[in-house]
Amino acid sequence: MANPNLNSGKDTMTSADKEFENNIRPAGIDEFTGQAQLIENLVIFIRAAKLRGEALDHVLFHGPPGLGKTTLSRIVANELGVSIKETSGPVIEKPGDLAGLLTSLGPRDVLFIDEIHRLSTVVEEYLYSAMEDYRIDIMIDSGPSARSIQINLNPFTLVGATTRSGLLTAPLLSRFAIKSRLEYYNAETLKRIMLRSAEILKVPITTEAAGEIARRSRGTPRIANGLLRRVRDFAQVLNDGQIDLGITQHSLKALNVDEHGLDEMDNRILSAIIEKFKGGPVGITTIATSVGEEPGTLEEVYEPFLIQEGFIKRTPRGREVTEKAYAHLGKTPPMHGMTGTLFGLT
Ligand SMILES: Nc1ncnc2c1ncn2[C@@H]1O[C@H](COP(=O)(O)OP(=O)(O)OP(=O)(O)O)[C@@H](O)[C@H]1O
Ligand SMILES: [Mg+2]
Repeated sequence: MANPNLNSGKDTMTSADKEFENNIRPAGIDEFTGQAQLIENLVIFIRAAKLRGEALDHVLFHGPPGLGKTTLSRIVANELGVSIKETSGPVIEKPGDLAGLLTSLGPRDVLFIDEIHRLSTVVEEYLYSAMEDYRIDIMIDSGPSARSIQINLNPFTLVGATTRSGLLTAPLLSRFAIKSRLEYYNAETLKRIMLRSAEILKVPITTEAAGEIARRSRGTPRIANGLLRRVRDFAQVLNDGQIDLGITQHSLKALNVDEHGLDEMDNRILSAIIEKFKGGPVGITTIATSVGEEPGTLEEVYEPFLIQEGFIKRTPRGREVTEKAYAHLGKTPPMHGMTGTLFGLT
């Protein structure tokens, strides 16, 4: 059974979830915690663009779900002091839809395209001249009198977001002058995010409790905020609304939250490598088939965290689980170097 509290995607979010998320979503760059280098650079680029009175260069935010790509896109518009229009790759069906959006932008405005890896080829190609020269062709009339005219757009900033940068074509990638990868948050940074969220929600929380949620949230603010919300329920009913370490541990246990914050897919990946492939090495495509996921998603969305936390290693011959993965799943690693030498035959 998938644990809904660890769902790192957003597909299953209810409107209450969204309202909650928007309440605690940082609006200004000063409220955004973590991703220090990325923020430092962004502040410079935004300041420079403002000093020159120009549109900020096009920006691509990429990285796993729930790390702050949408949040940052809005912050960029906010800091630039311009309006933002938000859309997403699959929503723009034809060049005409995109033309409508582009022509509605004011000078230096931001056009945010979420899931930009899902743009269709024709729409993507239509975007090229807009990004490069702030110019598009529009068809007027139809039938024999149909012709295209070129129109100039206001200078604008395209902010794209994707969890799957590997799917972007080289021509599109090259048109983003600023490419920023969001990394998983360490427990210390997530703890600060928890303390901030708790303050906004007006729930009393101890630093130990905030640290415990942080440690078990897969390095992901969206997951940490989701867990905080559930722990708050337990605290409300069982502990006078006080979130301390005891009630936090009790709640996380009741919610079946993994000790390391791994989610259901993480655990399936580790189990598959151990049970079906003797711990590896095994190729990413083979693992993907056995867990029913796309190799690219495995590589860009799941694997980085498992590698960062030391559950998986990349070797020239494929992926291998580490002893930490065996210990995590309560399994014993096979003994190495026994075959052949066991009876002194070598
Ligand atoms: N650095 C941060 N500081 C505080 N809160 C954050 C931070 N980053 C993200 N969050 C919180 O996590 C939630 C998820 O962030 P966001 O929606 O920006 O992620 P995303 O990268 O766009 O995810 P997806 O790939 O699923 O679209 C937000 O509601 C926000 O409250
Ligand atoms: Mg997003």
